[in-house]
Amino acid sequence: MEGIMDRTYRRISDASHNEFVANGVETHTPTSLAPTSLLQPISEVVSRRVADAQRRLESKLSRVAGSPFYSAPGVLLYNTDCVPFLAGLAGLGISVDLTVTSPPYNIGKEYESRLSVEDYVAWCQTWMCSIHSATKPDGTFWLNVGYLEVPEHGLCVPIPYLLWDKSPFYLLQEVVWKYGAGVSARRRLSPRNEKWLYYVKEPHRYTFNLDEIRDPNVKYPNQKKGGKFRCNPFGKNPSDVWEFPKVTTGTKRSSRERTGHPAQFPLPVVERIVRASSNPAEVVLDPFAGSCSAGVAAAGLGRLFVGCEISEDYCKLAAERFESYRRARSQCSLF
Ligand SMILES: C[S@@+](CC[C@H](N)C(=O)[O-])C[C@H]1O[C@@H](n2cnc3c(N)ncnc32)[C@H](O)[C@@H]1O
Repeated sequence: MEGIMDRTYRRISDASHNEFVANGVETHTPTSLAPTSLLQPISEVVSRRVADAQRRLESKLSRVAGSPFYSAPGVLLYNTDCVPFLAGLAGLGISVDLTVTSPPYNIGKEYESRLSVEDYVAWCQTWMCSIHSATKPDGTFWLNVGYLEVPEHGLCVPIPYLLWDKSPFYLLQEVVWKYGAGVSARRRLSPRNEKWLYYVKEPHRYTFNLDEIRDPNVKYPNQKKGGKFRCNPFGKNPSDVWEFPKVTTGTKRSSRERTGHPAQFPLPVVERIVRASSNPAEVVLDPFAGSCSAGVAAAGLGRLFVGCEISEDYCKLAAERFESYRRARSQCSLF
């Protein structure tokens, strides 16, 4: 043991690198409130289409959900339990193009009450089926989930194993999200990924804008075959393994986009999904909206965002976030 603690026994380069490895913490690079790709002006035509859709939707939703907690151009946020909210959508003739969400994982976070695994799966099944009923025929559902404990059977059981076939959606594929930082385990491997279940309503008819999400980081960009460039000018298919660092927290290394919500999506990951699976002026839903990262990405790309969040505190935090984002965006368009 003494030898291991001795610096000369270290197998890796230096103490700061060791700290990185031990804590799973990446060197902090300050981020902005939102990537510049989400601060671009939206055309007048798209803005008008979003405004029309927003008026129609808000009026229909008032019958089941009352007034939104927060509304701004391109955003409707309701402070309510999403289960009855979702169940009412299809009956109101409301349909959505894309749902992108991450529910509680039943692991005792501050925003959830723990259920038995059976009850948790049944609860998930209820809202997943309601999302299916409210999704347009060419619509898509992206569900982000992690791990939970199944007593007597498993400690870190991937939630996709429990949920993947619990709705009529067609599972197109699973995407691995490698996020870099996280808890350091001592008696097992430190978890560093979560999954996205990528569902469509109809297997042969769905929106997928590959050119919107191509990865420009190509190894041999100038390679030619028969005089023609081999790779697509927009880059390569980003594959089913995505690397997006988590939103960092803590003194000195907290990201600027950090809101105080404990499970905030990084904006680039939801931006990729919104670009791939929806078009301008379409409706994007997040029933477990939290700090509304999906909302910032959707509104930032000229979609209409509809969010549900059961906690009033998180709704307040999300409303403040939208206001700062709107300010940042209007300042950006001045330059
Ligand atoms: C994993 S977090 C989502 C975080 C979000 N992706 C973000 O970027 O901030 C899940 C959220 O669902 C909310 N929630 C839990 N049960 C809910 C329910 N029945 N209806 C609506 N929201 C709920 C929690 O308060 C929490 O904010």
